[in-house]
Formats: sequence, structure tokens, C-alpha cells
Amino acid sequence: MLRAPERQGQPAPEDRLAALERIWRRFNGADGLVKRGGLVTEVTPTHYKVRGLSDFARLGDIVEQRGQAGTRRGEIVKISRDEIVVAPFERSADAGIGDAVFRRGPLAVAPHASWRGRTIDALTRAIDGGSPLVRGDDMSAHATTPSAMARQRVGTAFMTGVKVIDIFTPLCFGQRMGVFAGSGVGKSTLLAMLAGADAFDTVVVALIGERGREVREFLEDTIGDSMAKTVAIVATSDESAMMRRRAPDTAMRVAEHFRDQGHRVLLVLDSITRFAHALREVATGTGEPPVARGYPASVFTELPKLLERAGPGAEGKGSITAIISVLVDGDDHNDPVADSVRGILDGHVVLDRAIAEQGRYPPVNPLSSISRLAGKAWSVEQRALVTRLKSMISRFEDTRDIRLLGAYQGGADAELDIAVRQVPLIYEALTQSPRDRPSSDPFSDLARHLKGKLNAESGD
Ligand SMILES: Nc1ncnc2c1ncn2[C@@H]1O[C@H](COP(=O)(O)OP(=O)(O)OP(=O)(O)O)[C@@H](O)[C@H]1O
Ligand SMILES: [Mg+2]
Repeated sequence: MLRAPERQGQPAPEDRLAALERIWRRFNGADGLVKRGGLVTEVTPTHYKVRGLSDFARLGDIVEQRGQAGTRRGEIVKISRDEIVVAPFERSADAGIGDAVFRRGPLAVAPHASWRGRTIDALTRAIDGGSPLVRGDDMSAHATTPSAMARQRVGTAFMTGVKVIDIFTPLCFGQRMGVFAGSGVGKSTLLAMLAGADAFDTVVVALIGERGREVREFLEDTIGDSMAKTVAIVATSDESAMMRRRAPDTAMRVAEHFRDQGHRVLLVLDSITRFAHALREVATGTGEPPVARGYPASVFTELPKLLERAGPGAEGKGSITAIISVLVDGDDHNDPVADSVRGILDGHVVLDRAIAEQGRYPPVNPLSSISRLAGKAWSVEQRALVTRLKSMISRFEDTRDIRLLGAYQGGADAELDIAVRQVPLIYEALTQSPRDRPSSDPFSDLARHLKGKLNAESGD
């Protein structure tokens, strides 16, 4: 077994040991005193195996591999009696047989107030070209999720500024909401609009598996002014599965740090499906068998473990409100990841491709979207109004084909006549682009729009 140099040979005198330790520290970053070493015995494109570390390795520990290409970090994803399996953070596994590998312990995530306004990677390195990050308290040492009974109850509603959401699926602090849609329907745009909500002290944005080009668009164009209170954690699609798997946890730890400072935190995660893909990639590489559409069972235990950490904090602390996007493969809403995530969340917003194709953005389908906490947000009048709006929209959509065929003449059904007249106006009022001003009173905006249009029509 290979041991770290300070353990080799004769015991070093005190000053030599200190010098060695200093060198190790410099080599390993601020906090790292390397403990034990092993040797690489097998390399595949996505993983490598190490002999000699099994006795003290823990799942999730970080290791450092010293090879020809320099020092590379990876994470322990499987431990067996004789060897461990490591998934590297770099995209290409350039480990070689016989390379030395040292255990570094759990990854330190040490958020600091000054991280707001910054963009970092899954290993908490600044990637915005700014100064190195100041380190605060290591969150991995803290208990992360308050127990069910210690938690505050999900309480007060807040305005997102996006009219269709605030009317049909209003949200409360500490709620976990999913945005479900096929690819290219408008998830990221809606999430970025929601990330601009004024109600929050801190916003944590986790962009997982996004195309690199979209990241700046998301952060600079759509989030824009709110960036000062935003911490962005980015793992783009070209990064390793391990970075994409790590990023949501890092984001959650950052959110937990600010929650414990008493902040109302908004966590926006785009997308949980790409996180599930990364989990699948890593788990498959360790030989875990697939159980549902290629996903191994561990994916379905990791998803609730992550999402349960959002929610209201313990008494006296802040809260984490989570809005996450779920890509529904081939617009199939029964996809196993979508299914599993839907059960964990307190509501879902469904975006429809057909609505987007009509140019109605955000393409929210109010009939299939629900917020389980809407009851706490609406007043009695608002609830009655929303019920009425939904029934009109439903009549309008159900009869769309008949009307297109010209098989319905006005006058036969008074309710339907009202729907045919008003629903297009309602749709018009709910349309909103990222460049539009957020609405502070969507119900009044809608009423004003309807009144104006209907008056204009009757005046004609
Ligand atoms: N609110 C909006 N107003 C105007 N256009 C919009 C709006 N939302 C989305 N779009 C249009 O739809 C396109 C796709 O949106 P977006 O990138 O948000 O989709 P997505 O669901 O995140 O896609 P992907 O699955 O590829 O991540 C945008 O480029 C834009 O043209
Ligand atoms: Mg997107």
C-alpha cells in the first residue's frame, strides 16, 4: 500500500514535518492534508479504479490523482473490499495505470456573503473571471435538513411578477414548484423571469447541463438587475457527469447557508432532468443495473434527497423556495423522472408546445397546472374568479375544433359566447416576455385589460 510521504520512512523531525505539510497544503489547496494513497489499476473513459484506499474511503469523498497531466480531482462513487471506483471531475479521464491517488475527504462548500453576484462551478471555483472567492463556514459540516417537526410551516404567499403564475398557480415561501415541458418550449425563459422576483433576499441559480451559450443569456439578459443578489452555480452540458451531478448539491448548500442567515432564498434549478441524466451516467459506470428507462434505482432515491432539503427552515431561520425545471422527454409527461419529481413537489406548472406555437408566452397551460398551496394565497374573491376563468378557458379549448370547422354559430349557448369573446382577451393579457415589466397586481391588470378591450368593442 502506498502511503503519503509524511508517513514514509523514518519519523521526520518537527520542522521537516511542518515543511512537508506546508508543501502538501500548497499542492492540495487551503485545507487539504492528504491522508492515504492508492494506485490506479484500471481506467475507462468515465471512471477509474484504485487499489489501496478501500479501508478508509467514504462514498462522496474527494480524491486527487497525480498523473502525467498533473493533479486531477475525482469523487469516490463505489467502494468494494479491494478497490474503489472514482469518477473524475475533468471530462477526460487521463488517469494512467500506477498513478498515485490520495484521499482528501468530503468536498468543502464554504459559502460567504460576498458570493452574491458571482458565478461559480460545482467545486465552488469562481468562473466569472473575478477575484478568488472568500471562504466562509464549511456547510458540509452542518446538518442540512431541519427535521419535519422543527420546520416552520409553509406560509406567506409572494408575487413572482409573472401574471399567469400569480393568478393561476400562486406560490408561497418555502414551496417547491416544478416547471414541466418538452425541449425548447420555454422553461429556461420562465425560470429566469421567476428568478427576478423581488420578494427574495438571495437567489441561487443552478444551471445544470445547459448549453454554454445559454448561460450568459440566462444570467445577463434575463436575470439582469437581480444578479447582485444572485449566486449562480453552473455545470454546462460539456462538463463531466460528475460536475453536473455535484452542482445541485453545491447550489443547495449555498442556499442552506443563506437560509441559516435568515434569508428568504429562491433556488432556481434548470434542469433536474439533466441532473438525473448525470446521476444515471455515473451510476451506470459503477455497474448499477437500470430499472426504469435506463435509470438505476439510486436516481430515484437521490431526487427526493435533494429536493427535501428545500422548504421552510427551522424556527427563526429563513426558507428555501425551489423552482425547478423538468424536461419531459418527447413531451411524455409520464417519464419516470418527471413522475418521481412530480410526487415530491408542491405543485407543477405545465408548459404546452401547442400554446408556444400560437406565440402565447409564457406557454403555461392553466388547466393542467396546479399549486398545492394556492389556497393560502388567494382571497375568497380571487379563488372564485380563478375558478370562473378556468371554466371559461376550458369551454373555449374544448370547442376549439368545432368552432374552427364552423359548426358552432353564436347565440345557442350564452356561456360559450362569453368564453369565445373573452378568452382570447384573457390570453392576450397574460402574455409576458422577459422584457416586459413584472406585474405587481396581476388581477387588476387582467381586469383593466378586459375592461378596456370590451369597452372598445362595444363602442365600435
Ligand atoms: N416569455 C417568452 N416570451 C417570448 N419568447 C419566449 C418566451 N419564452 C420562451 N420564448 C421563446 O422560446 C424559445 C425557447 O425557450 P427556452 O430556451 O426558455 O426553452 P427551454 O424549454 O428552456 O428549452 P431547452 O429544453 O432547450 O432547455 C426562446 O428562445 C424564445 O424564443
Ligand atoms: Mg432550457
